[in-house]
Amino acid sequence: MDQKKKLEVCVTGGTGFIASHLIRALLHKGYNVRTTVRNPEDVSKTGFLWKMPNAKEQLRIVQADLMEEGSFDAAVSGVSCVFHTASPVAINPDMNPEVTFVRTHVQGNINVLTACTKSPSIKRIILTSSCSAIRYDYNHTIEDPPLDESIWSNIEYCKEYKMWYAMAKTLGEKEAHAFAKERGLDLVVINPSFVLGPMLTPTPTSTISLVLQFITTGAGEYPNMRIGWVHIDDVVTAHLLAFEVPSANGRYICSGEVAHFGDVLQMLYNKYPKLKTSESSCSKEKGNNIFHTLDTSKIQSLGLRGFKSLEQMIDDTIQSFHQHGLLEYLL
Ligand SMILES: NC(=O)c1ccc[n+]([C@@H]2O[C@H](COP(=O)([O-])OP(=O)(O)OC[C@H]3O[C@@H](n4cnc5c(N)ncnc54)[C@H](OP(=O)(O)O)[C@@H]3O)[C@@H](O)[C@H]2O)c1
Repeated sequence: MDQKKKLEVCVTGGTGFIASHLIRALLHKGYNVRTTVRNPEDVSKTGFLWKMPNAKEQLRIVQADLMEEGSFDAAVSGVSCVFHTASPVAINPDMNPEVTFVRTHVQGNINVLTACTKSPSIKRIILTSSCSAIRYDYNHTIEDPPLDESIWSNIEYCKEYKMWYAMAKTLGEKEAHAFAKERGLDLVVINPSFVLGPMLTPTPTSTISLVLQFITTGAGEYPNMRIGWVHIDDVVTAHLLAFEVPSANGRYICSGEVAHFGDVLQMLYNKYPKLKTSESSCSKEKGNNIFHTLDTSKIQSLGLRGFKSLEQMIDDTIQSFHQHGLLEYLL
């Protein structure tokens, strides 16, 4: 038996967009995978995982919640690596995001890492952070060199422009690095930009649900947001490299090209004109339109050779929506 077939890894948040792709890739590579979900009994959200190739033999689904202390202890016990992807992504407007949303991220990371300190079998933890923990600051200009992993988003900037997701990812990642250093954990972090690509989950979540919202409803205003874009396949590759390459360390930016949200919508409408259901316009929001480019040399030197194009990301996302019956009347 191949050595890696004996290895078991844990992926937190198995019902998520990124986690589901990662689980499928790990199963394909022969790893045993334990994944956490909040409610394993909810077959409407977990059933698709059992249909993945090799799932019946190699997959286990266990319950864990980021907000319950000790919840991940059993989930990570005995595995050799933990991929921590679970985190709230959508902000509930009823909550106080500065407090509740940010605290969920920070505390969730600490809960998972604390569980990892109790399992000596764990050799490495891969945390999914974000380029949102890198790109937000007052002084970026178009002339600046590409942002690299040494750069962190400015918390005051996040507060001023109410960038709660960026604030949560920044503080959550910083606390995770500090905790790992103090407790001697081998933590490697992937910082993806805006992820596109086919969905495996039964319904769209996260970033692709945002895209679907715009193309099906017209949604009025799209975000005044300049951001890096990355294909889910490249995000999965980055996570696998972070796990499998022994020398991997610190943070890794994982992003294809940077473009304004409006320019990407325009590319999409040019290719799929029927999707333009109504005139949408750019929101007037400030603070999210920072000119920047991203230095991806670190992840490339780890083995990720070239990122998929924006066109491919758009095509794969749209085709996936179509296959799920979400755009039947539009294409
Ligand atoms: N998608 C992107 O463009 C992108 C870019 C950069 C970074 N990231 C990061 O990548 C990670 C995964 O994102 P994603 O796009 O895959 O998001 P997603 O599809 O919304 O998945 C998030 C996962 O987290 C779980 N979760 C949320 N709150 C939880 C809690 N209190 N306890 C346990 N699990 C909880 C969700 O479970 P339920 O199904 O039960 O809600 C879901 O499985 C996140 O850390 C996100 O910040 C995403």
